[in-house]
Amino acid sequence: MRILSGLQPSGRLHIGNYFGMMEGALALQHEGEAYYFIADYHSLTSIHDGPTLRGHVRDLAIDFLACGLDPAKCVFFRQSDVPEHCELSWILSTVTPMGLLERCTSYKDKVANGISASHGLFAYPVLMAADILIYDADVVPVGRDQKQHVEVTRDIAIKMNETFGAGLLKLPNPRIRDETAVVPGLDGQKMSKSYHNTIQLFEEPGPLKKKIMGIKTDSTAVELPKPTEGSSILALYKLVASPADYDQMVADHERGGIGYGDFKKRLLQAVTDHFAPFRERRAEIVADAGYVDKVLAEGAEKARVVARKTLKRVRDAVGLGNGK
Ligand code: ADP
Ligand code: TRP
Repeated sequence: MRILSGLQPSGRLHIGNYFGMMEGALALQHEGEAYYFIADYHSLTSIHDGPTLRGHVRDLAIDFLACGLDPAKCVFFRQSDVPEHCELSWILSTVTPMGLLERCTSYKDKVANGISASHGLFAYPVLMAADILIYDADVVPVGRDQKQHVEVTRDIAIKMNETFGAGLLKLPNPRIRDETAVVPGLDGQKMSKSYHNTIQLFEEPGPLKKKIMGIKTDSTAVELPKPTEGSSILALYKLVASPADYDQMVADHERGGIGYGDFKKRLLQAVTDHFAPFRERRAEIVADAGYVDKVLAEGAEKARVVARKTLKRVRDAVGLGNGK
């Protein structure tokens, strides 16, 4: 089984990214041949400052490794070290119907959130299709908001196969974990950088406390039972606490007599404890000068071997190059 996923280096990781995508992807690295990459070509659709982008790539690489990505088990690389993705993207774009891209909701969402409406932003699902198809991936672990893009990838692969020959490209399947499909943010909406409601994975203790204590709650009096439906505190606690502690918090909501401040303190402690080992590992990685560059260089070399092979197959099929 070939597994593939990517994350955009568009800012520090938040716990929605971690539980929505990364944790599942990391578990899969033990189940098959995994390819994970930092989607820096994609981030060019929103970041137009070289040093900023390069800084984000480095931070994301460190965060990924700190969370348990094992470079001995999977191929971990920077997208722009494998420029073959871009060539395949162009070829795919020539069979991609405009209507297919017009139906993608992420373009409209991103423009509504202030990202400028460039051709790259519009065409981004085609690049994502190339990312996936160039590795003949079977499974693509992503959060729910990326499901549509994996479906577009399948449609493009089908179109390519119909046009240039059955079996040219493999059809991938999304893998979405229902239980963490949408992690809520501090305001109860989906946690997202665009909504400024995130808790970063490696948040410093001060800001972490401020954010968690500031989670929006209703005005139920301390002595009364608290609603459990739609509670961000409970939804987040479930991700980081033991099942017994979670059940206890649900019971305490139902019984009443305990205020939201107390629940938030428990959440703060659980978040801190859950990510403490990652924090330690992160510090070790940062202290090891050259480690990240070495991992990414080795990953790129392995990824490129596979990408070149697929691209050659496609170039031959569509009539590019001399076919030899
Ligand atoms: P953001 O919304 O903060 O910009 P991205 O769009 O970069 O996050 O998402 C990166 C990955 O993390 C995707 O696979 C996405 O589905 C997942 N993800 C992001 N936010 C959440 C969330 N709140 N709940 C579950 N998964 C999420
Ligand atoms: N579009 C994804 C996101 O914004 C990142 C991504 C790029 C990706 N290429 C991919 C994810 C290929 C999975 C497979 O989160």
